[in-house]
Amino acid sequence: MQSYDVIIFGAGAAGMFCAIEAGRRGRRVALIDHAKAPGEKIRISGGGRCNFTNLDIRPERFLSQNPRFARSALSRYTQHDFIARVDAAGIAWHEKALGQLFCDGSAREIIAMLCKDMAEVGVELKLATRIEDVQHSDGFTVRTSAGELHAPKLVVATGGKSIPKMGASGLGYQLATRFGMDLTETRPALVPLTFTSEQLDEMKPLAGLSVSASVCCGTIAFREGLLFTHRGLSGPSILQISSYWREGEAIDINLAPDVDIAAALAAEKQQRGKQSVSVALSAHLPEKLARQIVARSGLVGNLADQPKARLQALARDVSAWRVRPVGTEGYRTAEVTLGGVDTRGLDSRTMESRSLPGLHFIGEVVDVTGWLGGYNFQWAWSSGWVAGQAV
Ligand code: FDA
Repeated sequence: MQSYDVIIFGAGAAGMFCAIEAGRRGRRVALIDHAKAPGEKIRISGGGRCNFTNLDIRPERFLSQNPRFARSALSRYTQHDFIARVDAAGIAWHEKALGQLFCDGSAREIIAMLCKDMAEVGVELKLATRIEDVQHSDGFTVRTSAGELHAPKLVVATGGKSIPKMGASGLGYQLATRFGMDLTETRPALVPLTFTSEQLDEMKPLAGLSVSASVCCGTIAFREGLLFTHRGLSGPSILQISSYWREGEAIDINLAPDVDIAAALAAEKQQRGKQSVSVALSAHLPEKLARQIVARSGLVGNLADQPKARLQALARDVSAWRVRPVGTEGYRTAEVTLGGVDTRGLDSRTMESRSLPGLHFIGEVVDVTGWLGGYNFQWAWSSGWVAGQAV
């Protein structure tokens, strides 16, 4: 039996960060993962450049059944703390848009920084190790494919269900349930939306086109890129809204939010009435998209031929396009899992279970889900850091 102060399950962003902090405090830490390499999601994140945090982290940009829960961790370990860490490691970065910070070089630099920090404080990283059983009595005894381990503290950082191909498993949820904790409903989030075959017939020919759009569901709206794909709609604005959208709901899309299309078409009609409607519309939209919208509306002839009401109706097709997705692409492509370990069962200052002292949950397995744009890694760093101070 190998004995430690802390055993951590999951060598992702949250688990590694917690391991480093606990190690710095002199704790003997074992970090176990069934994957062959640590930080696999960091490696593929942000298109290989890791959007590691956001300059504009705010608690209200995280979804949870208990929206106040994330405040404590996010304020105790902030984006500025992590940026200072990245700077100290000599990793060059840039702001891409909306406060999103990416490595100039590669996401692997973040993994290398974390691995170096773990090695310095003596974290024992046990990769390609299967977790076979966990028992609790006088601490936690863990049976693994590499033998038995024991520690008074257990931190679960096994992430969510997204991208099962990359090692996602339901272990964290199973352990939570097994130790008497509640779960909130889980569902894929930050995920492309899917449509009926009829809707797809319209979208497929536009695959590859992107526009800066405003996408709204209920009272929530995002103004970011929208991408037409062979499977439906994607791009940042769609991924963002997917976290709020529920089956049966419609989303409202403004494909040209910077322009009053009705006014623009009316002005064009005055000045260049002989222009075709689709040419006039393509001043504000990609040409192929403009042509399709005009064709769908049934308008024929040039601008001068169109009564005001018909141009206004066309403008609504652009600025108030209402679509009803049928679903999402699911965990296969979702960036994150919404929901998870119910935060009412956790102490927000330590991430420790209220019902079983010594047991902690951090990162994505917890019912805290950030917006797209570096928010989810910041939650992993912040929740990992606070648990690392407590274990
Ligand atoms: P994470 O999933 O990273 O780690 C969990 C670890 O537990 C894994 O190493 C896994 O192998 C291990 N594990 C699971 N089950 C186990 C078991 N049964 N036994 C042993 N080990 C087990 N976020 C962001 O802020 N900026 C970005 O740029 C991106 N980009 C991005 C791209 C893509 C394609 C995806 C899928 C996701 C993102 N994200 C993101 C989201 C981000 O990756 C995610 O929120 C964090 O990785 C969560 O960190 P955790 O450490 O909680 O889980």
